[in-house]
Amino acid sequence: MPAPVSGRHQGKIAIVTGAGQGIGRGVAKRLTQEGAHVVVAEYVEQNAREAAEELSSVGPEALAYPIDIGDVAQIEKMISDVVDKFGRIDMLVNNAGVNKTTWMLDVTPDDWDFVARVNQKGVFFAIQRVARQMIAQIPQEVIDSGRAPHSYGKIVNFSSVAGRSGRPYSAEYSASKWAVISMTQSAALALAPYNINVNAVCPGLVHTPMWDYIDATQAERFGMKSGEWMASSIEKIPLKRAALPEDIAAAVSFLCSEDSDYITGQALNVDGGIEMN
Ligand SMILES: NC(=O)c1ccc[n+]([C@@H]2O[C@H](COP(=O)([O-])OP(=O)(O)OC[C@H]3O[C@@H](n4cnc5c(N)ncnc54)[C@H](O)[C@@H]3O)[C@@H](O)[C@H]2O)c1
Repeated sequence: MPAPVSGRHQGKIAIVTGAGQGIGRGVAKRLTQEGAHVVVAEYVEQNAREAAEELSSVGPEALAYPIDIGDVAQIEKMISDVVDKFGRIDMLVNNAGVNKTTWMLDVTPDDWDFVARVNQKGVFFAIQRVARQMIAQIPQEVIDSGRAPHSYGKIVNFSSVAGRSGRPYSAEYSASKWAVISMTQSAALALAPYNINVNAVCPGLVHTPMWDYIDATQAERFGMKSGEWMASSIEKIPLKRAALPEDIAAAVSFLCSEDSDYITGQALNVDGGIEMN
């Protein structure tokens, strides 16, 4: 299992959306173990509190922040509250996401809105509002000189292998994850003059509650036993295993670190070799 790099994010302030469970919780734990204060920006209040408690027991104090990331007013309030408490924001990890396994021909406008609201609108406005805060943190003389000596913020967005190729049973989800790559590139260009890095990760199959839902709905659809859909999907992965949240967290931590200061606008597949472009 990838090991945390001691002190890598010492004293940094990170917002991780959807950090109450699954991959986001793994990312939050890794950033905490590496020295960051993490804001657990999570829809399910109890999970936000439990995660923040766990994080505070293994590293710097974490903050539970119950939020619906699809609501721009709530994003704005969160940024203001985080700055009041910690003074600044250094990293944003846009991990919160929702999925549906509806057959493409049956997708309803409500299905579309449900997915797009979190996976596209939530990601877009979290990037935009946090970026404004990151820019406000840059000393005026640096802005006037037109040359930033180091990175002034790291933003990592969650796309997916479903953002690399289409999905007949998650068409609106796949579209939203392609959109994440587009938003990542647009934001990387807009924020490059401020030396704010914006990248995306594209996980493959990670065993989380989201994948339990995919397995359950697809197994029922195709008359399979529980676990069989997931097993057949794992069989197609070149590295022949599902990812752990820790595998994805290691890539996110790298993209939040100084080691990636010269990387921006990229979408990194972290998928055991499913996609190679
Ligand atoms: N699990 C996988 O195999 C996989 C593969 C590729 C991409 N991804 C992406 O990785 C991210 C995390 O996935 P996961 O598998 O951990 O999912 P998950 O469903 O297990 O966890 C998602 C978290 O996001 C939170 N969330 C949902 N809507 C929210 C909202 N409106 N506001 C705030 N929080 C909200 C949920 O409450 C939950 O805690 C998602 O963006 C997902 O699309 C996952």
